[in-house]
Amino acid sequence: MKIFKNNESMGAWSNAMHKAGETIALVPTMGYFHDGHLSLMKIGREAESRMAVSIFVNPAQFGANEDLDAYPMNIERDLELAENIGADAVFMPDKEEIYPNGYQSYVTLKYLPGHLCGISRPTHFRGVATVVTKLFNIIKPDTAVFGSKDYQQLQIIKQLNKDLNFGINIVGAPIVRETDGLAMSSRNAYLRPEERESALSLSRSLEKAKKMVASGTTKSSIVKEHIREYIEGFEHTEIDYISICDPETLDDMETIDKPALLAMAVQVGRARLIDNTILVNLNICPE
Ligand code: PAJ
Repeated sequence: MKIFKNNESMGAWSNAMHKAGETIALVPTMGYFHDGHLSLMKIGREAESRMAVSIFVNPAQFGANEDLDAYPMNIERDLELAENIGADAVFMPDKEEIYPNGYQSYVTLKYLPGHLCGISRPTHFRGVATVVTKLFNIIKPDTAVFGSKDYQQLQIIKQLNKDLNFGINIVGAPIVRETDGLAMSSRNAYLRPEERESALSLSRSLEKAKKMVASGTTKSSIVKEHIREYIEGFEHTEIDYISICDPETLDDMETIDKPALLAMAVQVGRARLIDNTILVNLNICPE
């Protein structure tokens, strides 16, 4: 497995691979791997003949009061895991390589960031879209794999790929969970033992909502209120948002009369956790 720290050597590897008739899958990450990251790498490995993983804790997507400095890291372990899973290359640039002195270009989207996480994190998706654009330009992947745990991020990247004509095959991967249902996240490392139970309120509330909708509740406000009360019943939780919205546009849906995205962000102790699922009313949308 090759390790690259600068844009030029990374780009040269990609060019050489393409020249040799290989195709490249890219899995962008901020490191501190868990099984969610590894599932993306397995998909990437199958999708193309070569797989590159990027590890870069992107300062541009963290707000001023967020956890950039505390973000967990374990590069040695990450490299070992990436190699074991069959990565051919790891790109791990430093901040100056991606944002050199005098850097001034950013990528923004008009509508998608105005919903869900973008409301309380107003510069977050500008940072994500910018770094992903740079990674696409540097590595020129044929496929790029993203998790649907970060559902809004995945939608934004699909839109970016379309709008800016990257022509990359964007693959969305299912959410990987702990056996008790907690969505895997690097930020779960922040949870203190007494907060772990409260963190389960997210995935459990998704299950509750699915049952409500499957058994006939169609009013979004009723579902949202029910799970808001449920989550607030746990200690250490502070809800940022609970949204039921169109899975494509992320616009609010008042009635669940077609498949709807239920997405939420909840602060649990120091960890800001997100989770989501698709709600389907089987009476209205028979499978
Ligand atoms: P990071 O949080 O490290 O996540 C890297 C990728 O792993 C993302 O596509 C994310 O959706 C996916 N992922 C995280 N947890 C997952 C889970 N439990 N199941 C499935 N996939 C999961 O997302 C980022 O980094 C950054 O914003 C990045 C795209 C790298 C841009 O900086």
